[in-house]
Amino acid sequence: LGTVARGFNPVWIKPLIHQSQGAKEFAYCPYSKFRVGAALLAHDGTVFTGCNVENASYNLGLCAERTAIAKAVSGGYRSFKAIAIASDLEDQFISPCGGCRQFMREFGDHWSVFLSKPDGSYKEMTIEDLLPVSFGPEDLKKKRLFTTENGS
Ligand code: THU
Repeated sequence: LGTVARGFNPVWIKPLIHQSQGAKEFAYCPYSKFRVGAALLAHDGTVFTGCNVENASYNLGLCAERTAIAKAVSGGYRSFKAIAIASDLEDQFISPCGGCRQFMREFGDHWSVFLSKPDGSYKEMTIEDLLPVSFGPEDLKKKRLFTTENGS
């Protein structure tokens, strides 16, 4: 069964994982045939789901996590509690790609990522666990030795 590092299991975890599994059903992945679903929980309890959306021009494919985040941000949400990710991998917790780790990190590094298996078991990690020593929006505001006046 699922375990969490912090020792208590909020009631919303199982439903969030269940929603990521539901989102996986809509995966558009004719090329990889690798279905992924995500369910992103905003601070007010709203959940945004996402699936991977591939393309005949392969490199344009979107991951499930980024789809969910883009839906949330375009709906006015920027503050997130957790994201659950689901795939069909039988014996492995689905691990978000490096690009998605950075995309999630944009919105903070102290929120939770639930990497799940099809049986509903999960592993909880923070964004910081997944992307240590990260670069984020705060870094762009820090004092620099050199700045250009007009962007040239
Ligand atoms: N994929 C995701 O959507 N999320 C992940 O966490 C891992 C990978 C997608 C991208 C691509 O459509 C397919 O899985 C195979 O890489």
